[in-house]
Amino acid sequence: MVALIVGGSRGIGAGIVDAFARAGATTLFTHTGQPHYAEQVQKMLDQLRADGCQVEAAVADACEPETTKAVVEQATRDFGRLDVLVANVGQNLVRPAEATSTQSWQQMIDVNLSSAFYAVRAVLPTMLHAGGGRILFVGSSTVYDGGGGAIDYAAAKAGLVGMMRYLARNYARHGIRTNVIHPAVIETDLLRERYADAAKKQLLIDQVPIGRLGQPADVAGLAVFLASSWGGFICGQEILVDGGRTFYRSGP
Ligand SMILES: NC(=O)c1ccc[n+]([C@@H]2O[C@H](COP(=O)([O-])OP(=O)(O)OC[C@H]3O[C@@H](n4cnc5c(N)ncnc54)[C@H](OP(=O)(O)O)[C@@H]3O)[C@@H](O)[C@H]2O)c1
Repeated sequence: MVALIVGGSRGIGAGIVDAFARAGATTLFTHTGQPHYAEQVQKMLDQLRADGCQVEAAVADACEPETTKAVVEQATRDFGRLDVLVANVGQNLVRPAEATSTQSWQQMIDVNLSSAFYAVRAVLPTMLHAGGGRILFVGSSTVYDGGGGAIDYAAAKAGLVGMMRYLARNYARHGIRTNVIHPAVIETDLLRERYADAAKKQLLIDQVPIGRLGQPADVAGLAVFLASSWGGFICGQEILVDGGRTFYRSGP
């Protein structure tokens, strides 16, 4: 199995890379190449390779359609196939809707929605040629509860669900299964930045019926399952990984 994780250097994406690589998949991930994360990316590659995994990284801005296409074409040439796409890239800027500039809106739609479309468009020819594939979008519980603190983030994540439904309806018959994983309260940089204050973070934990924040591995296990034959009859679904918070929030 060859898996491409778009946005795999940190947080949930890095957890997904780790899980696919350790499950035996040839795993390629992209990231922005920011210098302050370079050491972290190298460590991740070294550890996985030392453990016998086949893993590669590419610097590619997911908001650049031509760059995404080039990464997919290169991967298909190098590995001879591409079975799984995980579109994980996401970014959130918390601010009121009325304070959201047009430029900022467009940028957030680009990062959270268009990036996934560019990746899907790039992988479809390979998957169609191979007679199948698996596509996973990483959404957010905001599609159910309007959380997350930004109108563009909420709109973009809902857009991923629309794309998933379109793909399930039109491409499942070509062997391509598409699903969405909606994480919430997973302890990553994205969450740490928003809940830097310890008291605020505790309030968040108190809302989670399972009684803790999630870890990237909590999301990654589901991603590998959905991409495997164990998930072979699951298509067009949205699955929350949220410790029960979205629908069963603790407290009055
Ligand atoms: N954490 C949560 O509780 C939570 C909740 C709901 C939804 N999510 C969703 O889960 C996904 C992962 O979130 P996270 O918490 O793991 O976030 P994170 O820790 O901020 O990691 C984001 C990842 O995306 C990559 N990335 C960002 N912009 C990119 C671009 N333009 N091109 C290529 N890579 C890019 C980053 O790469 P660099 O290292 O190069 O920056 C990094 O690997 C996102 O879609 C997010 O919306 C997370």
